[in-house]
Order: sequence, then structure tokens, then C-alpha cells
Amino acid sequence: MSFDTRSFRDALGCFPTGVAVVTCAGTDAHIGITVNSFASVSLDPPLVLWCLDKKSDRFTAFTNAAGYTISLLGTVHRDVSSRLAKRGEHSLEGIELLDTELGPPALADSLAAFECKAHAVHDAGDHAILIGQVQRITRHDAGAPLVYFRGGYGALAGVE
Ligand SMILES: Cc1cc2nc3c(=O)[nH]c(=O)nc-3n(C[C@H](O)[C@H](O)[C@H](O)COP(=O)(O)O)c2cc1C
Repeated sequence: MSFDTRSFRDALGCFPTGVAVVTCAGTDAHIGITVNSFASVSLDPPLVLWCLDKKSDRFTAFTNAAGYTISLLGTVHRDVSSRLAKRGEHSLEGIELLDTELGPPALADSLAAFECKAHAVHDAGDHAILIGQVQRITRHDAGAPLVYFRGGYGALAGVE
């Protein structure tokens, strides 16, 4: 291998992504984590995926969860995104939430939220790939997406 982990991360950071928060039931209350590994997988059945670091102390909660909700973030969620990306910071207290039918709440004003039943967990190096079967969708057709690029937040030019 001609590169180290730092160079690999930096090169991956050249791919701009959206940002999502995934919520599930924790021991006492619902918990959340910021991710940018969200991707669509299948339309029929409706499947999506995201990847979770095995070192995350939220690993057991998410990989054992019966389901989770994935909220796609807007620029208004920048602070929430930073907060739920901090090591050990899982609490949703003080974050504006919306109830869902399946349980784990969605973030208020997210561009879309996918309520998922856990479909599969695949081992993948130092991460696991979590595949969710979407049971319900809510959309909020206003607001600009939060973008992550080269280790920092941004927004799409021309999108309000
Ligand atoms: C924009 C952004 C995207 C992230 N995407 C992921 C991801 O896809 N998967 C992941 O496991 N961690 C991701 N992280 C890191 C987690 O949010 C979190 O910092 C990490 O799990 C460490 O905290 P924990 O051990 O308390 O869970 C991301 C962080 C940021 C800021």
C-alpha cells in the first residue's frame, strides 16, 4: 500500500457528501450519531445503507437495534451535526425532534427522514455496513442541504 490512513481519509474527503443523523433506542433514551456514509441501495425493496465505526461506543446500540430513523440534515442543523459527532455525545436532549411511527425520532426540519427496520449488518473492515428497510418516509421540501467536504461543512451554491 502506497498511502497511510491519513492520506486515505484526506482523499475520501474530496468527495462531497450530505450529512445525516441516525437515531435509535439507547439504554435509557433515544440516541443519535452524525454520519456521512448514507447511501441508497435498492428501490424494490426500499433499502438504504450507512456505515458505523466498530470503535464507536454507540456500536452495540445501533447494530442490535430493531430499527432506526435516518434524518437528512439541512444547513440549519450544523450545530446539531457537530454535537452528535463528538465522542460520547449521544443525547438528543434539547434537539428539536419529531415523533415517528416506529419510535426513534426524526430531527425537526430535516430534508427527509427514513424510518427503517434493521435489514442486515455486514462486517466491513473496521466498520459495519448497516442496511435498513425503509418503512416510512417524511419530507420537508424547504431548506438547503448540509454538505461535508474536505473535513468541513458547507452548502450548495445556488440552493437556498
Ligand atoms: C460529517 C461527519 C460524518 C461522519 N460520518 C460517520 C459515519 O458515516 N460513520 C461513523 O461511524 N462515524 C461517522 N462520523 C463520526 C461519528 O459522528 C462520531 O464522531 C464517532 O462515532 C465517535 O463517537 P462515539 O464513539 O461516541 O460514537 C462522522 C462525523 C462527522 C463530523
